[in-house]
Amino acid sequence: MTVAKDGRRERVRAMLADLKMPGALEAVDGILARADGGAVTATGAIEELLEAQIALRNNRRLDSAMRSSRLPAVKTLAQFDFAFQPSIKRGQIDSLHELGFVERAENVVLLGPPGVGKTHLAISLAIAAAESGRRVYYGTLADLVASLAEAKTAGSLARRLKVLTHPAVLVVDEIGYLPVSRDGAVLFFQLINARHERASTVLTSNKGFEEWGGVLGDEVMAAALIDRLLHHCHIVNIRGNSYRMREHQDLLRSGSEEAAQGVSA
Ligand SMILES: Nc1ncnc2c1ncn2[C@@H]1O[C@H](COP(=O)(O)OP(=O)(O)OP(=O)(O)O)[C@@H](O)[C@H]1O
Ligand SMILES: [Mg+2]
Repeated sequence: MTVAKDGRRERVRAMLADLKMPGALEAVDGILARADGGAVTATGAIEELLEAQIALRNNRRLDSAMRSSRLPAVKTLAQFDFAFQPSIKRGQIDSLHELGFVERAENVVLLGPPGVGKTHLAISLAIAAAESGRRVYYGTLADLVASLAEAKTAGSLARRLKVLTHPAVLVVDEIGYLPVSRDGAVLFFQLINARHERASTVLTSNKGFEEWGGVLGDEVMAAALIDRLLHHCHIVNIRGNSYRMREHQDLLRSGSEEAAQGVSA
């Protein structure tokens, strides 16, 4: 009896190895032990086994995306504290993370003052896309414009634009902090034009659209750019306090508590 059972388990392990499912292979013994003990049903066991494989695959995709996408940090939806930012509609953010917008090549624009989570949510959308196997790329507006300007000087602008049109999700972070030259604005317009209706762009800005003309140094071009962006677009308008300030306040508070304890000791 146990010999037959052990033989079947060995075959299960061999098949998982054959199917190249190392995550499931690593988890299978533990799951079967709990199934034998009655702690998990047959459906639960299959579910856990597949979940273990999917978790490993997503981790690998994330590792490779972190190497190639230039994402500056790992920020996930699970790490985002919605209670801190009540102006954000959780339903909208959750549904964006289901990635229908990527499927439909729609854009996302995150607007709001410093520290409210614009970059965090832009990265978490890119990470969700990377975990689903899509190619993603991150840059600040200043970085992307600099790389396009460099390519233009080298005579390879068309190739660079093609490379930057390829990712299913491109994050363009920090529109508004650093001014862009007129030439830079033209390059940015070309980039958005190339991606329009082909692939999703996720943009963040501390400035409302009415101020983008000032950032890009050209009202007419800004209007044409915004017109393309908004054609198929989800806007997340965040009004609230900086999360960085909260962290500073927590530090200040714990510092003053320690000081108070020092006095009373
Ligand atoms: N609601 C939140 N829950 C958890 N962490 C948050 C939240 N909002 C912001 N953070 C964290 O606070 C820091 C600042 O957030 P983020 O960089 O996303 O701000 P931002 O809106 O892009 O600001 P800036 O305009 O200055 O670039 C990050 O470390 C981010 O992970
Ligand atoms: Mg930011």
